[in-house]
Amino acid sequence: MACTLPSRPRYPTTRRAPAPILTSVPVVGVLTAGGDCPGLNAAIRAVVVRVAAEPDGRVVGILNGWEGLMEGTVRPLGRDDVRGILARGGTILGTSRKDPYLHGEGLASVLPTLKAEGIDRLVVIGGDGSLRTAARLADEGVSVVGIPKTIDNDIAGTDYSFGFDTAIQVVSDAIDRLTTTAEAHHRIIVLEVMGRTTGWIAVYGGIAGGAEAILVPEEPYDLADLADRLRRRHEAGHTYSIVVVAEGVPDPSGAETLAGVDAYGFARLGGVATEIGPALERLTGYETRVTILGHLQRGGTPTAFDRVLATRMGLAAAEACLAGASGVMVGVRGSTLTTTDLWEGCAEPRLVPSDLLAQARWFFA
Ligand code: F6P
Repeated sequence: MACTLPSRPRYPTTRRAPAPILTSVPVVGVLTAGGDCPGLNAAIRAVVVRVAAEPDGRVVGILNGWEGLMEGTVRPLGRDDVRGILARGGTILGTSRKDPYLHGEGLASVLPTLKAEGIDRLVVIGGDGSLRTAARLADEGVSVVGIPKTIDNDIAGTDYSFGFDTAIQVVSDAIDRLTTTAEAHHRIIVLEVMGRTTGWIAVYGGIAGGAEAILVPEEPYDLADLADRLRRRHEAGHTYSIVVVAEGVPDPSGAETLAGVDAYGFARLGGVATEIGPALERLTGYETRVTILGHLQRGGTPTAFDRVLATRMGLAAAEACLAGASGVMVGVRGSTLTTTDLWEGCAEPRLVPSDLLAQARWFFA
């Protein structure tokens, strides 16, 4: 017997972009500031595509973060300039940690470029520090919309910042590799990952890689207790252990481990694993090696998740700009795009919650 399938809803075969929301469009400046991360180019591309869709819409790319705004180094960005950059890591605009309030005269050091280029809206793609600078400028009357980016995933105004997903994939891949060599040599391997004052990369990367312990700045650790647990694990027949350490955890003496100071006077974290590794070897008696993953976590092509997140945030920031919003940042809560007051969104770092840490502990040695 012939059966009839329910008819499918009919969709137009060619989709059109939504209609422009302004007839006269401001000139939008866009910059990437602070540490780079995968997805920056996807966000720049989205801002340009959305603004260029407005009649006469114009984007000015500001080079090397706030430095370009202070020194007047800019380049026009049209649709042709952003073709083929979606999957590319880094940022076509360059970045730096120079800050107009710390290394210049604040508003006075950026006004000449804003005026000379006719920029009356700014999209700032930055981490917590750059977003705070954006908030200060907004307080002084500059129209600014922020986009959160950082592998650290520690910005309060969003559940996820792009760059994070790519970084934890790198960490998870690294643990897979370290596991086979640790197993072959019956070793403990201590893997240090980035994250500054938070342990998001350590916890997500560690869970994904099946680490035997994860040390994060949010929670004190007891090295003697960890050594006991690892020793018991090895005595029970397991021949290796992987310990993930966030760069921001204190060393066994309780001090923060600094790798120095960068060109702009900011403290550089790093190296705590070189204290923890030998201490664990001493306490357990098992041979221990240390790997510091470093900038491998920040380089290379963004994951699909980061490309989509950066694209959505770039479009949302451009829309907010075009609608005349200022002093706000875009973000996501769940999968919904949000807009939050800039100060509220970046005043304090977003810490790893205790329930997530508790879940990770079920798998510890
Ligand atoms: O904030 C992003 C981040 O990658 C941190 O995780 C890390 O501590 C820092 O930047 C490294 O910065 P730099 O590239 O200046 O060494």
